[in-house]
Parts: sequence; C-alpha cells; structure tokens
Amino acid sequence: MRITFIGGGNMAAALIAGLHQQGHPDLQLHVVDRNEDKCRRFAEQHGASWSLSVSEADLQADVVVLAIKPQGMAALAEQIRPWLHQQLLISVAAGIRTSTLSQWLGDYRQLVWVMPNTPAQIQRGVSGVYAMPEVQQTQRTLVDQLLAAVGTTVWLDDENRMDALTAISGCGPAYVFLMVEALAEAARKLGFSDADASQLAGRTFEGAIALLAHSGEDPASLRQKVTSKKGVTEQGILSLQADGLAEIVCRAAERAQARSVEMGALLSQGAQA
Ligand SMILES: NC(=O)c1ccc[n+]([C@@H]2O[C@H](COP(=O)([O-])OP(=O)(O)OC[C@H]3O[C@@H](n4cnc5c(N)ncnc54)[C@H](OP(=O)(O)O)[C@@H]3O)[C@@H](O)[C@H]2O)c1
Repeated sequence: MRITFIGGGNMAAALIAGLHQQGHPDLQLHVVDRNEDKCRRFAEQHGASWSLSVSEADLQADVVVLAIKPQGMAALAEQIRPWLHQQLLISVAAGIRTSTLSQWLGDYRQLVWVMPNTPAQIQRGVSGVYAMPEVQQTQRTLVDQLLAAVGTTVWLDDENRMDALTAISGCGPAYVFLMVEALAEAARKLGFSDADASQLAGRTFEGAIALLAHSGEDPASLRQKVTSKKGVTEQGILSLQADGLAEIVCRAAERAQARSVEMGALLSQGAQA
C-alpha cells in the first residue's frame, strides 16, 4: 500500500512512527514537506521517499493524508484538485469539515476527517473519525488500520459531533496537564520544592491513570476505594465537589465545543480562525 503524507510535522511523524512500528511489509511511504531536514529524517528513520512540493506523482497513492495546518488547506486543495481520481483523502486538520474540503476540491467525496489528539505521538491517542457517505467499507477498514498505528478510534455518523469530540478528547490532554499543574501548585503551597512538587503531582497522575487502565475498574469505584468515611481523602474530595469540579469541567467542554463550531464556520468561509 502506498501512502503519501502532505505535511511532515508532528501529526505525520506520529502516524508514520506508528505505521512503521506495526511493520506492514508492503507499505510504501512518501512525504511531501517544504522543509528538507524533516523529509530527510523520514527517509532515514522510516525509509520514506520524499519531495519538497506536491506534484501529480505524489497523488498516485492509495491513501493521501493531508497533515498541514488548517490555514493552508484551501490553497493545497486548489493545487491537488486536478490530480484526484478516487484515491482516499484523509484530512487531520482541525476544524475543516469534509463538506468544506469537498467544495474546495471540486465536489470530491472520497474524504475522511480525523481528529486525533496529542498522545498519538506516543501511539496512545484517541481519534474521532467521520467519513463521507461515499467512502466504501474497504476504505473505512483502511482508515481503521492506519489509525490503529496511533491509538484507538471512535467513528462518528454525524460530522457535527466532531466539535463535541474535539472539546473532549482533542482538548482533553491540555485539561489533564492543567490539572497536573494545579496539583503541583498545591504541593508548592504546602511547602514542597518545585522539583518535589512536580514529581509528586506528575507521578500521581501517571500512576493513577495506569491503575485505571490496568485494574479494569471504573474511575468512580477506584475513587471510592481510596476515600474512607471520615478519612483524609474524603475531605479533599468533598472540597472539590463543593466547588463544583464536574460543572467546571462541563463548562470548559461546552466552551471549547462552541469555539470549535465558530472556527469551523470561519474556516469554511476561508477566513482566519
Ligand atoms: N499535533 C497534534 O497533536 C494534532 C492534533 C490534532 C490535529 N492536528 C492537526 O494536524 C495537522 C498538522 O499538525 P502538525 O502539528 O503536524 O503541524 P506541523 O508540525 O506544523 O506540520 C505541518 C508541516 O507541513 C508543512 N507544510 C505546510 N504546508 C505545506 C505544503 N503546502 N507543502 C508542503 N509542506 C507543507 C509545514 O511546513 P512549515 O512549518 O514550513 O509551514 C510543516 O512542516 C493540523 O491541521 C492540526 O490541526 C494536530
């Protein structure tokens, strides 16, 4: 299978590293990126062929992954539009709906939109996926195989749900980092050095998430297990609940969703988001 990546940045690097690790014997990778250093790295690390600008030959692939920033997508679509002939196009650009991309590509409809998240860089991501109705089951299976390289996948039937998904899993890693920062800040206020505070907060999140993954239990029961009646943890949890942690997180997700909707509308008009 031949896959061309247009844009060889973080997201392409994550996908390519994951694909390489999966070890497909017949995989041919091609990377188009205007930065020669990046291209050479893909060649050295993954045996990819490369080019500095997109040409018709680069589009002669089973799958073409558009992995550039959303702002450059309209111009790229204009460039590749004459060279499309039923190959599967996967866009990972945040905010750009398939309907918009399809319009930029002259009503091309072999389109899939993927919203990965940053843990994809270590093959632990979760990606939301929407495919236009014209995308065949065999191509959907191909998308599943490709995305298995960077984690797990959630398919959406309705493209409008992508804004909600973005607000949860797309932004989620940043929410978690903020919570780690907040716990480290609390540790500093309780008298720990910067180094110890970072260690205590970071390792606690890491350990708790690993325990969640390994125990097979849901987070509520794990929480209840460490929250004895009249104990120390109970006081901390009661304080978080009284301050409305669940509502705070819900409001954050709603606000992120609204911004995603707004950005999608602006990008579809070709405006700066
Ligand atoms: N990083 C993430 O975790 C993440 C998560 C979800 C979604 N995404 C989406 O993934 C897409 C890529 O993100 P990224 O973080 O990988 O971006 P990135 O690191 O900036 O990579 C994009 C690369 O493509 C190059 N490029 C741009 N236009 C090009 C063109 N027309 N021809 C050849 N090369 C071109 C860029 O060069 P220059 O730097 O010279 O412009 C850059 O090297 C974005 O649309 C983003 O919304 C990323």
